[in-house]
This record gives sequence, structure tokens and C-alpha cells, in this order.
Amino acid sequence: MKKIVILTLFKNMFDEFLNTNAIKKAIELNKISIDLVDIRDFTKDKHKRVDFPPYGGGTGMIISCEPLSLAIDYSFSNLLDNDKENTKVIYMSPRGKLLNYNLSKEISDDGYNYVIICGHYEGIDERVIEEYNIIEISIGDYVLTGGELACLVLLDSVIRLMPGVLSEGALDEESHTNKLLEYPQYTKPSVFRGKKVPEILLSGNHQKINEYRKLESIRITKKYRPEMLKDDK
Ligand code: ADE
Repeated sequence: MKKIVILTLFKNMFDEFLNTNAIKKAIELNKISIDLVDIRDFTKDKHKRVDFPPYGGGTGMIISCEPLSLAIDYSFSNLLDNDKENTKVIYMSPRGKLLNYNLSKEISDDGYNYVIICGHYEGIDERVIEEYNIIEISIGDYVLTGGELACLVLLDSVIRLMPGVLSEGALDEESHTNKLLEYPQYTKPSVFRGKKVPEILLSGNHQKINEYRKLESIRITKKYRPEMLKDDK
């Protein structure tokens, strides 16, 4: 089982997510456990503050070393059996490695447990990043107000790839799995405002349908993400 511990100042941002079918299934199948830890519970500041102005001046606030390191230490000692060998620490950060299908797949399969830090304000003290050998992951070249949404994106993309979480075959044909985008999909009714579903999809000839879908995948990839066809990665 992959153990995930999320360090956040906004635990309730994860409530809906933890209640979705795919995540409940992954937990039920013992594929993952998810624990939420409130960074604020570890501050020794009498006003419960976790963020302070940056040394050297500048705008915004920085989450300080103490509550964050205590929250990480607590996660190791109370939730991860002090299993430091098999645990990696991630910080969701706009300067991190860009998340893509391959990285999600790697995290999904790698057998490691993860502590995931969701920062807020202008970031976290750099010394924590060094101290825990933290891996930084970004979900795109833009800046969010906090790491929670990014963490949700990461978790969703990782957990849905775990065997048994989605129905069988669901991953086979989807975008990025085969280095192509997915072909267009249609459902009832067969005619919508005069637009008909492509005839071949109603033919029942599965070989022909597969050939058609493959060509459509190539057409769609060419149209939306032509660089994927050149990419040899
Ligand atoms: N936190 C703020 N912006 C982010 C981004 N783009 N990716 C991951 N974490 C972030």
C-alpha cells in the first residue's frame, strides 16, 4: 500500500476529493492511504502563525522552518513507521519538475510513500527543502495561491493509474497513454441537431471501428498537439 501524507493549512479542501468513487475504491482496495496533517498544529507561535516576512525584504510571507519540519517529523514518526528509506517528500511548487503522464505513472508504480507539502503565501523556507531532500513538482507554468489544487491534480492523476481503481480497459485508449490523444467519442442520441454520429461507429464491425479510431487519434493529435507526433520521448 502506498501511504500518502498531505501537509496543508486547508485540510477541508480535500474533503470532496476523498469522497469521490475512484479514491474511495483505491482506499478500499488498500492501494493507498491518505492522511491529512495541519501544519498550523505544529506552530509554537502564541498567535498560531506559521508564516513570517522574508529575510532581505520583499512582499509576501514565507512558511517558516519550525512548524513545517515538525509536521514532517510527526508524519514520519506517527504515520509512516519512520520508514525514511521508502518515503519521499514532495513540495508542490511552480518552480518544480513539470507534471506529465510519465511522472504520474512513475509515482503510481514506484512503491514509495509520499509526504506532500502544500505551501501558501510566497513559499517555504529553503532550508526545509534542503534538509529533507525535497522533490518539487509543478502542475504548469502559472502560479496558484496555494499547493492544494496542485496536490489534488497530482493525486488524481496518480491514483487513477493504480490497477483496479478504474474499470478494466479504461486506461488503454485514453489520451497520453499511447502517445496520442484520444479519438472523439459519441453517445446517444445518434442524431443531435442534424449532426450524425459517424456511420462506422454504428456498424458493429470492431476491426473497422478500431482502424477508424486509430486514424482519428492521429488526426486529433495533429490538430491539437502536433508536437506530440514528433516527440520521441
Ligand atoms: N503552487 C503554486 N503554483 C503551483 C504550480 N503551478 N504547481 C504546483 N504547485 C504550485
